[in-house]
Amino acid sequence: MSLTRSVSAVLSLSALTLAASTPDQIFSPDVPLKVSNAFKALPTAIQYPQYTDTNAGNWLDFSPNTWTSGFFPATGYALNTRKQLCGATPANGLGMADWLDLGRAASNGLLTLDADHGIGHDVGFISFPFEEELLVNPQNQTAIDAVNRFATMLAARFNPTVGCTRSWDTTDPTDFQVIIDNMMNLEILFQSADLTGNATLRSIATSHANTTMKNHIRDDGSTWHVIEYNSTTGAVIKKRTAQGYADNSTWSRGQAWGIYGFANMYKRTNDTNYLSTARRLATYFLDNLPSDGIVPWDFNAPLTPPPRPADSSAATIAATGLLLLSQQETTDADKQKWIDSALQLLNNITTLAWKPSWQSLLSNGTVNWPANNFLTGIVYGDYYYIKAGNELVTMGLASCQSGNATNTTDPASQPQTSPAKSSARRLTPFMSRW
Ligand SMILES: *[C@@H]1O[C@H](CO)[C@@H](O)[C@H](O)[C@H]1NC(C)=O
Ligand SMILES: *[C@@H]1O[C@H](CO)[C@@H](O)[C@H](O)[C@H]1NC(C)=O
Ligand SMILES: *[C@@H]1O[C@H](CO)[C@@H](O)[C@H](O)[C@H]1NC(C)=O
Ligand SMILES: *[C@@H]1O[C@H](CO)[C@@H](O)[C@H](O)[C@H]1NC(C)=O
Ligand SMILES: *[C@@H]1O[C@H](CO)[C@@H](O)[C@H](O)[C@H]1NC(C)=O
Ligand SMILES: *[C@@H]1O[C@H](CO)[C@@H](O)[C@H](O)[C@H]1NC(C)=O
Ligand SMILES: *[C@@H]1O[C@H](CO)[C@@H](O)[C@H](O)[C@H]1NC(C)=O
Ligand SMILES: *[C@@H]1O[C@H](CO)[C@@H](O)[C@H](O)[C@H]1NC(C)=O
Ligand SMILES: *[C@@H]1O[C@H](CO)[C@@H](O)[C@H](O)[C@H]1NC(C)=O
Ligand SMILES: *[C@@H]1O[C@H](CO)[C@@H](O)[C@H](O)[C@H]1NC(C)=O
Repeated sequence: MSLTRSVSAVLSLSALTLAASTPDQIFSPDVPLKVSNAFKALPTAIQYPQYTDTNAGNWLDFSPNTWTSGFFPATGYALNTRKQLCGATPANGLGMADWLDLGRAASNGLLTLDADHGIGHDVGFISFPFEEELLVNPQNQTAIDAVNRFATMLAARFNPTVGCTRSWDTTDPTDFQVIIDNMMNLEILFQSADLTGNATLRSIATSHANTTMKNHIRDDGSTWHVIEYNSTTGAVIKKRTAQGYADNSTWSRGQAWGIYGFANMYKRTNDTNYLSTARRLATYFLDNLPSDGIVPWDFNAPLTPPPRPADSSAATIAATGLLLLSQQETTDADKQKWIDSALQLLNNITTLAWKPSWQSLLSNGTVNWPANNFLTGIVYGDYYYIKAGNELVTMGLASCQSGNATNTTDPASQPQTSPAKSSARRLTPFMSRW
């Protein structure tokens, strides 16, 4: 297949020859079909899919004050983006729903969440659909208010002595716990700073990232899951895990959030410390993959016993993070390295975990191994799988059609833009943040 041609046309990466193609399944009509079915099956009392059972792969739904609630509405927005990029054809199935309507309607259930309803630091994840809405309609006051309100809630969890926003609440308030996942929540601060001009929010984000760089990352580029600080002295009390195999091991999803989060920090600031950190985390992630190319739930968990299941969500988050990182690089060689690795992760996880008979797209997700919750589909694993496909199209690295090269003379394979849409948004790689 001749991807080189479309790459040079879109990105002027004339030297780039991809080592692997995009897996066909990412653009399968099963993707819109399954997501559409999940929207139809949403319970009347507002709840959102988080993960599936392990036998039949049926979605289990959770109340809005769950950290994952934003991903399913955001998946509606992601398919709206895909429809704009790819058009709707009988083969791609994207015409079966109005994804924007679905994403908007589903996100309404998140609007009433507040600090008293248990969402704590997770406002960043929960805000994804509102950030998406502002790409579609930057004037939408409901979404503007939600972004600003959630950012204020996260800022209220900042402790200047520690230099971080607090993750989990604790019975001893001086025990200040921060998880690597929170690198993903900083984008909401930049979004709100852009909307309001409040520079304090940006400085909270860089402080959190700087402190995380100092304490969460080991010399070899691996990460601790949890750092406990003393909130009155700022001292590090403890470095440990919550969801990994051991305190000193590397939980793969945390490592993936870190790759993504630091690549985004570089995008937001141009501070090269963040770029080199994202590269180090990515290098550790890729260098520590087993020979089958499948991302284990923890890089240091022994093969057997106990069992070492994969985490398909860590694979899709890392793949999307690597694509974001490739966007920040300036040389073709550096871009290519991360793109090739992203494609390899996507191919390998598709081979293992693509599951036509399940409601989720992928199986083999590990929600929480210490809590005995694994071998499931996961809403954020599917979300980043779709997102990775969208970004590959936007970057000119994949056609919309099941891995076949773009047919430049076929109108059906060309991105479609209507005047209304193109005036509302400009489609650029990693449109605003991820
Ligand atoms: C504005 O955004 C909200 C929340 O994302 C959404 O529910 C609503 O439909 C949007 N309104 C318009 C007019 O697009
Ligand atoms: C900027 O945001 C911070 C954190 O939410 C807040 O304390 C401060 O009052 C805001 N400043 C202005 C001028 O609104
Ligand atoms: C934090 O430091 C203060 C002052 O030294 C001490 O009273 C408190 O117990 C410490 N908290 C923790 C969780 O170590
Ligand atoms: C974070 O570190 C960068 C240098 O890498 C510095 O420019 C920035 O001011 C720091 N942020 C804060 C809040 O100290
Ligand atoms: C973690 O600590 C244990 C016990 O000290 C040690 O055996 C193991 O090699 C360490 N693992 C890593 C990844 O450093
Ligand atoms: C980063 O640098 C690029 C190239 O000079 C510039 O276009 C971009 O606006 C800068 N971004 C930020 C956030 O400063
Ligand atoms: C993938 O999931 C299947 C069950 O769906 C399981 O049998 C297999 O062991 C899993 N593989 C890994 C590497 O997690
Ligand atoms: C992993 O992906 C790469 C690139 O797509 C491929 O060459 C390799 O065979 C895959 N490995 C497995 C075990 O599927
Ligand atoms: C991709 O190309 C192959 C070979 O020409 C063809 O058999 C297949 O149907 C194509 N797939 C799609 C989705 O167009
Ligand atoms: C590309 O699309 C055009 C128009 O639909 C069609 O005539 C042509 O055969 C296609 N070429 C290939 C290689 O599929």
